[in-house]
Amino acid sequence: MSTPLLIAHRGGSAEAPENTLAAFRHSLGMGIQWFELDAQMTKDGELLVIHDETLERTTSGSGPVGSFTLEELRRLDAGSWFGTQFSRETIPTLREVLELCASEGAGVFVELKSPHLYPGVEQKVVSLLGELWVQGVSNISCISFDPEAVSRLHELDSGLPLGQLFDLDTTDFAQPDDRIEAVLPFYATAAYYPEQIERAHALGKRVHVWTVNEEADMRRLAELGVDGIMSDRPSLLLKVFDNY
Ligand code: G3P
Ligand code: CA
Repeated sequence: MSTPLLIAHRGGSAEAPENTLAAFRHSLGMGIQWFELDAQMTKDGELLVIHDETLERTTSGSGPVGSFTLEELRRLDAGSWFGTQFSRETIPTLREVLELCASEGAGVFVELKSPHLYPGVEQKVVSLLGELWVQGVSNISCISFDPEAVSRLHELDSGLPLGQLFDLDTTDFAQPDDRIEAVLPFYATAAYYPEQIERAHALGKRVHVWTVNEEADMRRLAELGVDGIMSDRPSLLLKVFDNY
C-alpha cells in the first residue's frame, strides 16, 4: 500500500502556533513535505496566512482581518496564545510561507478561507502563484469550500491544480467536476462512505481528507486508499507512516 501525502494542517497546529512560520519550520524540520494553510486578505489587498475571519483567537488583536492593513496586522503577536516562547511570531504573508516551503521543496494546499469576504482574492492568489512558479515553486494546489471561488480560480488560470473541500454533511463528495483534480471530504464522512473514495478515484480525482488526529483513523483512511491525510499532529503522521 502506498503512503498517502502527509499534510501538516495549518502548518501543524497541535505542535506550534497555527499558520505561523514557527509551525511551518517545526514541521519542515522533522521532515514533513506537504502543508495546508488558510489564506485571507488585508484591507489593502495583501494575502496573509490566518484561519479565523477575526483576530481574537490567535493574535493580540481584535476585529475582522479584512478591516486592517498589512502594516497594522504585522504589529500583532500571533504566537503567545500558544506559548510564551512564540511571542515573536507574527501573521505571515502567503508569499513568505510559500517561499519557505518552496526553499525546502515542500508542497502546499492553499485554502482560500471565506473568499466571499475578499473580492478579488482569487486574482491575487493566481498572480502570486504565477510569479512563484516562474521562480521554480511547484507542488501547489488551491482549495476552497466555496465552489464559486474554485470556478473563479479556474477561469483565471485553467492550469492551476484545484481541489473542492466538502463540509461534514456532504456524503456525495465524488463529483465529476472537470475543473478540479482533487476532492477533500471530512475524514469521518470519507471513512463512512468508502465507495465514494473509489468513485472519486474512478473519476480520476485524488482524495485528501481533513483533519485526522488519531492514529487509528490515520490507519483506517490509508487502508481505504486516500491520497492525502491532513493532520494537526505532524509528529504522529510521521510516526504512523514511517516504514508504512
Ligand atoms: O483544508 C481542510 C480544512 O483545513 C478545513 O477546515 O476550518 O481547519 O480550515 P479548517
Ligand atoms: Ca483550512
